[in-house]
Amino acid sequence: MRARYLQLSRRGFIASAVAATALPPAMVAPLSAAESGPSLGAIAASKGLLFGASFSTAELDQPYGPDYARIYRDDARVLTAELELKMLILRPAADTLDFSGADRLMAFARENGQGVRGHTLIWNDNNPDWINRLGPGEVEYLLETHIETVMERYPDIRSWDVVNEPIGPWDQLPGNLRKGAFLTALGESYIARSFEVARRVDPTAELVLNEAQTESADENGQTFRDSFLALVRRLKDRGAPIDTIGLQCHIDTKRPYDFPRFAAFLAEIADMGYRLAITELDVNDRALSSDIKARDREVAAIYRDFLGAVLPIDAIKTLTLWQMADHTSWIYYDDVRENPGRKRRPRPLPYDSKFQKKPAWFAIAEALEAMPARLK
Ligand code: G3I
Repeated sequence: MRARYLQLSRRGFIASAVAATALPPAMVAPLSAAESGPSLGAIAASKGLLFGASFSTAELDQPYGPDYARIYRDDARVLTAELELKMLILRPAADTLDFSGADRLMAFARENGQGVRGHTLIWNDNNPDWINRLGPGEVEYLLETHIETVMERYPDIRSWDVVNEPIGPWDQLPGNLRKGAFLTALGESYIARSFEVARRVDPTAELVLNEAQTESADENGQTFRDSFLALVRRLKDRGAPIDTIGLQCHIDTKRPYDFPRFAAFLAEIADMGYRLAITELDVNDRALSSDIKARDREVAAIYRDFLGAVLPIDAIKTLTLWQMADHTSWIYYDDVRENPGRKRRPRPLPYDSKFQKKPAWFAIAEALEAMPARLK
């Protein structure tokens, strides 16, 4: 590790040299992953796996913005837009399109040679209120034009969550499908239609069906696995152009898990001919020890056990976390909103709130080192 710090002082040296020659910093190549020590992205890439995390441009404007940017430059080869490409953000009003956040995220990725995952085109949640006032024909038109407009603006995005979270057992609808404007207007066919439009717009992009809550070894997880697998089979039978199945993998320590059993579920999907992506991995540590050191060790062990169980599946080609630093996690933000005065805060991710590596970072690195290389 000492070598790494020596390298970093070398980075400092370069920066001062740049200042002396008045070259714009961008013209000084950043230290390569090899020079600055093995990053998570570099270790994953050595095995043929694409590694990254969700990214929020709003975090760049925080006082810690430069540190936030640094860990992504260091570790992430691909960024998932956490907010900027959602319909709620892109279409605040029926006659308004706001690409400012997405354009900014794309610019950051371009500057740093990173890919972007487009999350998400069609979702029966987190939509602006105005779409609930549309008639079926207007919703169908919105679905098609939204997919066309957004994908055509960002041809550099090579992977899209075309449909997010189609399952919602709480709505008690046939197939346990999640209620929402698109289901109400088009029935289940909104899903296949979304993929057909996306394939027409960009025949070479990776088209992903992304789902949550399939992971746990309880009734909820079983319901999601059964419902989602049945949906995937129906979509395959109708020839929906889906390339990859995304499993979000928000691990919640309040639930029980059997990671080998979840891996068998993934293998069953892979056997249908789909690529797989772990799309939103994080560990909600709310049921773990209050002692920070102990909790960090327990979270690291969960990352180790989960990744050790799933990464041997060759169909998994992408692994993305849901943020990388504890205080930028949705779990942290939700905790602050729901428990403003609480001292204990979630620690779900590989970097702490000072952007220092935690045991989870090393557990992820070790799991990536140990995984078998992808066959193609
Ligand atoms: O930025 C505003 C802030 O200015 C305002 O004061 C605050 C008031 O509540 O809201 C803030 O925006 C919030 C935003 O996150 C940034 O924190 C939104 O209310 C909140 O709805 C939004 O939540 C996001 C959620 O998706 C809905 O878009 C979470 O950050 C994001 O992590 C979460 O991500 C989802 C995936 O898209 C799908 N899978 C599950 C995952 C976690 O829920």
